[in-house]
Amino acid sequence: MAHDIAKNIEKLREDIRRHERLYYVENNPEISDSEFDRLMRELSELESKHPDLITPDSPTRRVGGEPAKELAPVPHNPNAPMLSLGNAYSFGELEEFHGRVVKNLGGESFQYTVEPKIDGLGVSLIYENGIFTRGATRGDGVTGEDVTANLRTVRSIPLRVSAPKGLARFEARGEVYMGRDAFERVNAHREAEGLPAFANPRNCAAGSLRQLDSKVTASRNLDMLVYSLVPTAEDGRPAKVADSHHVAMNLLRELGFNVSQVTLCPGLDAVKDVIADFGKRRDTLPFEIDGVVIKVDSYRLQEELGATSKFPRWALAYKYPAQQATTKILDIEVQVGRTGALTPVAILEPVEISGSTVSRATLHNEDEIRRKDIRIGDYVFVEKGGEVIPKVVKVVESKRTGDEKIFHMPESCPVCGSAVYRAEGEVAARCAGSSCPAQVMERLRHFASRGAMDIEHVGPAIIEQLLGAGLVADAGDLYGLKKDDLLRLDRMAEKSASNVIDAIEKSKAQSLDRLVFAMGIRYVGARAAKLLAQNYGDLRELMKATPTELTKIHEIGPSVAESVKLFFGQSANLRLVDKLEKAGVNMKGLKRAGEAQPFAGKQFVLTGTLSGMTRTEAKDRIETLGGRVTSSVSKKTDYVVEGADAGSKAEKAREVGVKIIGEKEFEDLLKAAEREGGGQGSLF
Ligand code: IVH
Repeated sequence: MAHDIAKNIEKLREDIRRHERLYYVENNPEISDSEFDRLMRELSELESKHPDLITPDSPTRRVGGEPAKELAPVPHNPNAPMLSLGNAYSFGELEEFHGRVVKNLGGESFQYTVEPKIDGLGVSLIYENGIFTRGATRGDGVTGEDVTANLRTVRSIPLRVSAPKGLARFEARGEVYMGRDAFERVNAHREAEGLPAFANPRNCAAGSLRQLDSKVTASRNLDMLVYSLVPTAEDGRPAKVADSHHVAMNLLRELGFNVSQVTLCPGLDAVKDVIADFGKRRDTLPFEIDGVVIKVDSYRLQEELGATSKFPRWALAYKYPAQQATTKILDIEVQVGRTGALTPVAILEPVEISGSTVSRATLHNEDEIRRKDIRIGDYVFVEKGGEVIPKVVKVVESKRTGDEKIFHMPESCPVCGSAVYRAEGEVAARCAGSSCPAQVMERLRHFASRGAMDIEHVGPAIIEQLLGAGLVADAGDLYGLKKDDLLRLDRMAEKSASNVIDAIEKSKAQSLDRLVFAMGIRYVGARAAKLLAQNYGDLRELMKATPTELTKIHEIGPSVAESVKLFFGQSANLRLVDKLEKAGVNMKGLKRAGEAQPFAGKQFVLTGTLSGMTRTEAKDRIETLGGRVTSSVSKKTDYVVEGADAGSKAEKAREVGVKIIGEKEFEDLLKAAEREGGGQGSLF
């Protein structure tokens, strides 16, 4: 029996590893995301029932653990420091490098490899007996920082490989980076939160990798490309498993790593062709490159050439010229993003930058314009980085005539005319109107999404169709849809139309916290929505609350309170509430009339595995009763609930003198509170 479970778990892990590799490394998934999630869930459930069978290389262990206190320094292999590369910026400099290689090799024939040079962060991954055991940043090449927990969250890094003979211990080195898509998502998210955007994917990747809390890294979708293999012998010296770089890279690819595209070149002309080819394609790659890396392929010849104290003599980075030009700013327009953020965009006199015409450049926000003192009519340097939209680097002050005009953010939204506001401490100015077309799409998507009203069958594609056909303008209109309306849409069959209508109908019964979250009030995430719903009898009551009242709710701060007030002060939002109410959407709060909340003000910490309920269930029940769940034990903690295999949190509780209760006691406490409400006032 126990043996069967262990076998089952191992089989699931193997399946998941295979699908991770197909998805993240080979870009060729065989199953849908939800099927993959189902496998992961199945494995998590089995592991939580059998915690003794959890191993560090399990795919469930990618995220987890407590945040680190610091990134500890780790020495790199002293026999193989992580060197940097010499640079060339022209074919002339490339030819000089080639001349030195030919001379040093005394006429011996050799080949080069050429591969893209991704602009990210160099890291080292150590594998022992096939298990990923330590990951570190390059640092100064001799000492790096331990970022093992963070690297485990990078899905294209295998946590386990089937190491062939001779590779009992090896190091894979490569570049951790952020793809263009992931970069845009992170910045869009930050913009929505009013946080400053990352300037480029490299900074974003660096910030994401050097985090103390690996959950943050996990949320950023980093990637890794491997560009070097260092097999390590027992004594720590480099061992040998391949004769050349390209063979070693093929080996790593077979082991499941994401490996740079390596082109073998018989001579300098072929190298130049590859450089030109990558140069042409660089804007279409899914990641930013700042050049290519040229390496002598043979390991024996690499050794013969050796290295200076900083650079190997057998490799060179060829850097592409900066893609810049000067042009004139004709005007500054304001664009409204999906979250209502207003982005100023420079309209440029069209200019050619490395093969394409640029006529617009982002100016990010008003502060950025002030900082760079950019005015309408200015001549500016424009740079086409890897990013989709070019940016203005700086003003050419010598070309000023005095006729340039200072730009001001509009006071009303250029799309819908609603008020524009800028919250304290934020960089982005925003449109406050909820019916602004630029925002409607994203709002509807959020409204119907799984964590919000969870309206099945109403995904982005249908929403786009509904908006296009003018059938909906806000979330309230969803509830007025008839089956016939839907049947008018392209490719909408009878059955799908019924499914959509049924799902919308069903969502009317969702709890108020989901509705509040679904409305997309800024700063009101799922947790804040729950607190708000718990403290009011219904939505109308919540709408009447003043910011001062709202901040009296534990954990609700001034920015949430102000944002709620602002939201319900807009007439478009009031109309939305009316529509929802008329349609019969549930607006009853979670506060039970006349009852105090039995767990009000109480803090719980959950540790170990509970056998009768999942952590989410336990958390939900505590929160419904007015209590809070925090992740670490402090003097403020009232109860530590100790499940099976509890770790350091229970120890800490004993140290601090916090009460520890077992699962049975916890269950009794919950039941008593749920049965008797706060009426008794004697639970604690
Ligand atoms: S080889 C001794 N290959 O560029 C050879 N480096 O500017 C060391 N990089 O520190 C590196 N792509 O972080 C190599 N395909 C590639 C690379 C690459 C990016 C980074 C690496 C290195 C830096 C040097």
